[in-house]
Amino acid sequence: MRYVEVEGLRLSVIGLGTWQFGSREWGYGDTYATDVAPALVRRATELGVTFLDTAEMYGFGRSERIVGSAIAGLDPRPVVGTKLMPIAPAEPIVAWQARRSARRLGLSSIDIYQVHWPNPLVSPRRVMQSLRPLVDAGLVAHVGVSNYSLDAWREAERALRAPVVSNQVRFSLTSPSPLRDLVPGAVADGRVVIAYSPLGQGLLSGALVPGDSVTGMRRMTPLFRRGSVVRAMPLLAVLADVAAAHGATPAQVALAWLVSHPGVVAIPGARTIEQLEENVAAADLALSADEVERLTDAAEEFAARD
Ligand SMILES: NC(=O)c1ccc[n+]([C@@H]2O[C@H](COP(=O)([O-])OP(=O)(O)OC[C@H]3O[C@@H](n4cnc5c(N)ncnc54)[C@H](OP(=O)(O)O)[C@@H]3O)[C@@H](O)[C@H]2O)c1
Repeated sequence: MRYVEVEGLRLSVIGLGTWQFGSREWGYGDTYATDVAPALVRRATELGVTFLDTAEMYGFGRSERIVGSAIAGLDPRPVVGTKLMPIAPAEPIVAWQARRSARRLGLSSIDIYQVHWPNPLVSPRRVMQSLRPLVDAGLVAHVGVSNYSLDAWREAERALRAPVVSNQVRFSLTSPSPLRDLVPGAVADGRVVIAYSPLGQGLLSGALVPGDSVTGMRRMTPLFRRGSVVRAMPLLAVLADVAAAHGATPAQVALAWLVSHPGVVAIPGARTIEQLEENVAAADLALSADEVERLTDAAEEFAARD
């Protein structure tokens, strides 16, 4: 495993996303929540994963609860990032949301409290002003944002008068745009980009061929429409080619490409322990500069034809 350090936090370049834990939309069933999810957290920490990502809205708090009980008693315990929806900038409401998340997680202080989405009606400055007292009170150790532009991220940091350590964004071979400004900006500022949906929600595993039917949440996702899957075929061919050269899987190469960039941490979700183990091993898969360039070109081509 490799690690990225930011403001005293040591984040494994492969973390674990836990949207799947409490959510019906992934269709993994009840035993996934009760048995598989806690086992994923245990196995992840055994393998050196030090970052878990959750949110108050995943399964309406269920994901936070599952993470909380899975990390109870773990020593050392992983860094936990959770997210708030900035529904209102009023400090008492934000404090109430934070206290509820902390309680579900069983933590006295939230390691990274991320603003899930920019609220179009509330400026980044106002949102940060409502978070500042929580940092001062110790309920929040570090603040992060999610789905923020580089400018909004920097504005948030100025308003917080403290580092906004991370920006969690959709970033993968099917969504390579953060390479343009967010990643270089984060490196320049000594901050971290957290890549969500790093496997294109499973599309980059190469398991899907045009015409396959998809279920659950993927039925609503444009990436899984037939036209998009057809458009992804040249990208998936490059991915398969690089994977074959390393005796790796396409999913591993997709993750290795992400974390080949400085200051980037990827948080794949996993349905099984085997997927988790495969994903974690991608941290040690070294791609050549030529392979990274080929993959980037194929990713940009895919995005340009959107
Ligand atoms: N901040 C935000 O707005 C935001 C938005 C979305 C997600 N997130 C976070 O990011 C995390 C990850 O994103 P995501 O869950 O959307 O997508 P993802 O990580 O790209 O895809 C996860 C899915 O890919 C499949 N998979 C995982 N490992 C695999 C492997 N080794 N081989 C083949 N298939 C594999 C599994 O689905 P199947 O086995 O069912 O195919 C798994 O559920 C979430 O859990 C959440 O914590 C944040």
